[in-house]
This record gives sequence, C-alpha cells and structure tokens, in this order.
Amino acid sequence: MHLIKAKTLSFIDDPGIVGEERSYRFHEKGAVVIDDEGLIAWSGAASDLPETYRDLPVTDYGRKIVMPGFIDAHLHFPQYRMIAAFGKDLLDWLNRYTFVEEQRYADYEFAQMAATKFLDELIRNGITSCLAFSTIHPVALDALFEEAQKRGMALVSGKTMMDCNAPKGLSDTAETGYRQSKELIDKWHGVGRLQYAITPRFAVTSSEAQLEATGALKREYPDLVLQTHLSENHAEIAAVANSFPWSKDYTDVYDHYGLLSEKAFFAHGIHLSERELARMSETGAAIVHCPTSNNFLGSGLFRYHHAREAGRPVSVAVGSDVGGGTNHSTLATLRDAYVVSQLVGHRITAFDAFYLSTLGNARLLHLDHEIGSLAAGHSADLVVLDPEATPIMATRHALSGSLHDELFALMIMGDDRAVTETWIAGKAVKNELAG
Ligand code: GUN
Ligand code: ZN
Repeated sequence: MHLIKAKTLSFIDDPGIVGEERSYRFHEKGAVVIDDEGLIAWSGAASDLPETYRDLPVTDYGRKIVMPGFIDAHLHFPQYRMIAAFGKDLLDWLNRYTFVEEQRYADYEFAQMAATKFLDELIRNGITSCLAFSTIHPVALDALFEEAQKRGMALVSGKTMMDCNAPKGLSDTAETGYRQSKELIDKWHGVGRLQYAITPRFAVTSSEAQLEATGALKREYPDLVLQTHLSENHAEIAAVANSFPWSKDYTDVYDHYGLLSEKAFFAHGIHLSERELARMSETGAAIVHCPTSNNFLGSGLFRYHHAREAGRPVSVAVGSDVGGGTNHSTLATLRDAYVVSQLVGHRITAFDAFYLSTLGNARLLHLDHEIGSLAAGHSADLVVLDPEATPIMATRHALSGSLHDELFALMIMGDDRAVTETWIAGKAVKNELAG
C-alpha cells in the first residue's frame, strides 16, 4: 500500500447544476491511500488519516495538486502522428491527410509502434482513460488494446466503420464492418479494463446499409458505448443532407437508425438546430466538445451554455480530437473551451472545466464507479499537477488568491510540463516512460 500527500481535488457533482461550493472536495493538505489492488482505499484531509495508514510509504507532492486522471472523451489513435496538418477545412483535411495516414494501420507492426507512442503521449499529459477512434483495421484495434492492457488502462475504443466516400484501402462494407465489430466485441469487450465502442465514422462515410447494420449492433449490444461525429462543418452537413434526402436534419439520420441513446457520443455538434438539441436531450445522447479541433479546422464556435440550457439540457463531454485537435494536453483543451465560451458571451469556470475532464466524462461513459473521482473504491488513476511548473507560472501562481484562481491559471497556462506524474491503477508511470 502507498500514501500520497498533496493538495487534493475531486468532484462530486456538476458545478453548473449544484453550484461551485457543493461540487467538489478540496484539501489543502490532503491524502490518498492506495491499496495493493491499485484502488483508492481512502482519501481526505491528511489530519483525518486513519491510524492504520499512518506508517505507509509516502510520496509527498507538497503544494502540487492531485486529482483524478484526465479522461479524453474523443480523439483518434491513428492521427497522433499527423497532428498539425495544414488544410482548408474538415473535408479537405480528411481527404488530404487523414485518410492517407489511417491506411498505414493495416500493418499490425506499424500499429503496435503507434500504440506505444500514442499511449505514452496520453500518460505524459495526465490522461489515464479515453474514448478513442481507431481505424477500419481490426489489427489496429488489437495493437491499441494490447498495449493498453499491458499498462492496465481503462480504454474505450472500436474499429471504425466506413463504406463509402473514402479510399478503397480505408473502406469496409456494411457486412464486414458489422462482422468484424462483433468479432472484436467478443474478443475485447470487458477484458481487463477495456471496453468496446461501436464506431461508425460519420454519416458521410457510411451507406444506409452500414448505418442499418450499426443499428443492429446497437440493438444486440445496448450497453456498449457508441461514438461518431455530428454537425461539425457546413459542407459536411450539406453532404449528409444530400446522401439522406429523407432526413429532417443530420441528427435525424442517426436517430432513424436507433443510434441516439445514453452512452452515445457525438463529436462536435456545433451547428445543431433547436430540434436537434431537443432530440439529443430527450435521448440522453452526448455532444463531445472538441474546442482545439473546432478552432484549428475553422469549424465554428460550440455554445456550451446554450447546449446545457435547463429546458432541454444536452449532456456535454470534452475531448481533444487529436489529430484535428492541436494538443494532447487536457489543459490546452480546457483553455480553448474557456476561450470559445468567452467568444460566444459566456464563461466556463475552472471548476466546470476540471469537472468535465474528470467526473463529467466518467459519468457519461458510465464509468464513474471506477474512474473520475478520488473516492474510496475508485481506481488510483491520478494526475499530479504543478501550478508552478514554469518560471512564469510560478510568478503568476504567487498572485493566486483562491482555489479557482489557482486552477484557472493552471488551465490557461499549463500543458504537459505541468503534469508532474501520472498514476495508473496505483502505479506512477509518467516518469518511467522512455525518452
Ligand atoms: N469527421 C469524420 N472523421 C473525422 C475525423 O477524423 N476528425 C474530425 N475532426 N472530424 C471527423
Ligand atoms: Zn474526431
């Protein structure tokens, strides 16, 4: 067993709903006890530490902040290498770079090498779980899951399905997409901490037959997460309207095939109409806000507060969307989420931001019994953050007059340098990485 001392922060509810004061537990001198199974045995104020834990080996992080590891609710494993590719807009960028790069993942050895680098990068940024796209190739998902399994990470991912408007080397069919997904579900879902996500890429690259088959998968495995893209870019929306002329709108296409439900994650959702938002709200489906990607590809400004409106609140998760996203760092994602909220006339607070990237994402994945909190019984997946990581951050930190101020400066100024350590299932792993 092990004892960690630090400032500790863990959310218990959504600050946007219960108010800041009641949304988190913070201890200036906190303690987290990790048991031999890699679970949190106890957390709280160090002064309340039960007698039995007082003689454990200690890691003391002093004034650094320990919180649950970050959860990235949307990114692409096969795009980590083509991050920062110069393109006109979404469809141009996909065709010019993404669909070319993703074809390389037909090669298992390449995918194995990539999986190591990809997961290293998550760990470097304090991300301990994610909901990720893979490619159409079963071997790519095998490589990713094998590597995650070795590291004891809770990962959710799936083989991408796409059967039209894509190069031949990156296309399956309605039948193979369905069959391979089923085989991979049997092979991987529930192995260790891994979960399978049903993954149609988006309505642009799936035929009616493929979306029908996706609906069948969802009916056979109703408890699985489903992930796709929705309403990111105007040309994309027009292409979907053209392919599905009977649909009321983009959301209606997925709805028609039974893909809207709790545990369904729709990346972007920037340009949704009131009708679409109401339907998302009714079904419990979530939008994944991907601000660095939306900014980078010029896709538009997602209105977080509008989506969350009390009359028809839509669940919102947060993700990097690397490689459309420009940074693996969750802190960078949160910074852009704040900036975008400012540009549309609202302000996401630091409490909102850190809630979303920990307990908020965990709840939407229905994994909040396991991740996203420092409460006893949760996996000891932790990030140790240093608000004084660089000289200028230390200077700024000296002015911080409140917890919010400290967290806010951390998310605006921080990146991977502010991640002192990452713990996965009770093991400190960041400083063990090669290079
Ligand atoms: N829509 C369909 N595929 C993708 C992708 O890979 N990235 C982004 N940003 N949007 C998409
Ligand atoms: Zn994406």
